Amino acid sequence: MPTAVVILAAGKGSRMKSDLPKVLHPLAGAPLLAHAVASARSLAPEKIVVVAGHGADEVRTALAGFAPDVEVVVQAEQLGTGHAVAQARSALEGFTGNVVVLYGDTPLISQPTLEKMCNAHERHGVVVLGFEAADPGRYGRLVMAENSLERIVEYKDASTEERSITLCNSGVISADCATMFALLERVNNQNAAGEYYLTDIIALARSTGQRAGVVVCPESETMGVNSRGDLAAAEAAWQRRARLALLDTGVSMAAPESVFLSYDTEIAEDCFIEQHVVFGPGVRLAPNVRVRAFSHLEGAHVEQGAVIGPYARLRPGAEIGARCHVGNFVEIKKSVLHEGVKASHLTYIGDAEIGARTNIGAGTVTCNYDGVRKHRTEVGQDVFIGSSTMLVAPVNIGSGAMTASGSVITRDVSPDSLVLGRARQIEKPGLAKRLKALWRGEKT
Ligand code: UD1
Ligand code: CA
Repeated sequence: MPTAVVILAAGKGSRMKSDLPKVLHPLAGAPLLAHAVASARSLAPEKIVVVAGHGADEVRTALAGFAPDVEVVVQAEQLGTGHAVAQARSALEGFTGNVVVLYGDTPLISQPTLEKMCNAHERHGVVVLGFEAADPGRYGRLVMAENSLERIVEYKDASTEERSITLCNSGVISADCATMFALLERVNNQNAAGEYYLTDIIALARSTGQRAGVVVCPESETMGVNSRGDLAAAEAAWQRRARLALLDTGVSMAAPESVFLSYDTEIAEDCFIEQHVVFGPGVRLAPNVRVRAFSHLEGAHVEQGAVIGPYARLRPGAEIGARCHVGNFVEIKKSVLHEGVKASHLTYIGDAEIGARTNIGAGTVTCNYDGVRKHRTEVGQDVFIGSSTMLVAPVNIGSGAMTASGSVITRDVSPDSLVLGRARQIEKPGLAKRLKALWRGEKT
């Protein structure tokens, strides 16, 4: 059955107390809305439509970046969830199949849950995603009759008896497209909130003899974000789930609860992640990489068998070759380290390419920035960069060369040369002793 998804994202999100539209607040390094779009994509839909309202321009711009194929329609006034879905009508003109309604602020709905909903259409015209609420609070209540859903009653409109129902509406609903829009035309706003409720389509469907059903998922999946506290709770839930998924794919973590992942983190089997490691967006690790404690990686790729950290920082554009060692207090930005490079201590490498097996001594710095422009450093294979070498870019060190410790290298170095770029050492025998005595006022 072909599927289309409508994602509601028009609400103000005033409890966030933010200038940024709620659905653009980040979860695991990506906007909440990107998570909803990812859930939608798990159904391989023909079309995804986002209903924007508050901050629609910002939402549109953000979507153009991460999901350019998604169509945006604007709900100028927020008159209710039913009214919101109705705005997608012309965008879905000509589509036949099921429409699934998701929410831009509900990022944790899983693929298996959505698949269960699709399968339930074999028995039901309209399918609602429900959950057993620990604290049903102000959620809409699912009123069941036998094994099918009779109607949804909003908290504001519910009787005391109905409020005692604990099976609640997650908001996610799916129905045949033509049926959905035909039912929405009949929804009115004669209720306690004065809104057009999407939830009213259940009773309307039943009155035309259609069956409605409920698929139940764990409450954790239905968690919506209305405040910064909710956002932090959703982040924690997302991280928990992502860590477990990684452990299942053959990644070891010494202390999973201290490892923080991004929406797109890729870690291959037999990697070992030590305690307190942060993965920003855009990280990919090949098999058998060890990331040692307290490292921070972002926009970086690491090949097989490399060891990163402890206390290493890989910034965007770091390409670390197989079996490289990047040690403590080493920062790497926009640089390629070929196979077997060692940079073990206290080093900055930026805008550079380092050839295979080269050793970068402690305290080495690529001086890549002149205050206005960035310049490149090229280092060949099997080079030995002595400790505390300043590589003043643009500069090129030929393969097999050595730099003396403490050198400031400002000109290119030819292959296999030893280069010294530091003041010659001068020694004055006995002068230290004589000076100290003089300063203490002693006779010499
Ligand atoms: C809705 C459901 C309720 C369910 C709950 C789950 C209805 C009538 N009620 O209630 O049964 O238990 O979600 O969280 O559907 N939105 C728009 N345009 C609008 C109105 C809402 O885009 O005109 C979006 C909001 O941005 C929000 C979502 O739809 O993300 C839900 O709207 P909200 O007003 O929060 O509905 P609830 O009262 O929570
Ligand atoms: Ca809500």
